[in-house]
Amino acid sequence: MRSVHEISGRRTPARRRIWTAGLLALALPLCLSALTGSGAAHGPGGEPSPSFEAYQAGEVPARFLGLANPLTPSEAHVRAGQRLYAENCVLCHGPKAEGGGEMAAGLAVPPPNLPEMLRHYPDLDGYYFYIISQGSEPFSRPMPAYADLLTEKEIWQLVIWMQAGFPGAGATGGPLKE
Ligand code: HEC
Repeated sequence: MRSVHEISGRRTPARRRIWTAGLLALALPLCLSALTGSGAAHGPGGEPSPSFEAYQAGEVPARFLGLANPLTPSEAHVRAGQRLYAENCVLCHGPKAEGGGEMAAGLAVPPPNLPEMLRHYPDLDGYYFYIISQGSEPFSRPMPAYADLLTEKEIWQLVIWMQAGFPGAGATGGPLKE
């Protein structure tokens, strides 16, 4: 498997092949899950995203591997994460973070069901920090990179909010709603 470094950078023919392969990889599990009715684990069609697979295989920059959240979870961090989600993420990930936000229909890959993913992988702090800060652009997918838009603290607050069970995902910065 190619490393993130090999396929990042300009859109080379190799990257286009990966993109095509990605579309096929997307279509197949969708068909399979329609046939078997198997529950979606997380990610499009219930399959792990390429970013997730790369992280699990240790094929992302080493500084992200095994990272633990430096913040201690608190009500204030949960509220901050809720507000950040409403400002930055809800348009794609939807009011319950289960996908289907207003912008989701126009994306080449649908935003996954995040609460479902967190049920399977509640403690993957490093992965959540990695995907939010770097996005899925290295795999030609539409999850944006937030490294230049949010501070590290804000990204960790989003992770705390996700691990707190996504309270008030659709709210627009008002009081925390369950
Ligand atoms: C432009 C639409 C869009 C926005 C805005 C967006 N996302 Fe995403 N996000 C996606 C898509 C599409 C994926 C699936 C990427 C993939 O499968 O490779 C994704 C994937 C993810 C994943 C990884 C899920 C997995 O299966 O590996 C997490 C976590 C996530 N987003 C959190 C966020 C957070 C938090 C924000 C706001 C700071 C955000 N996203 C903003 C579209 C978006």
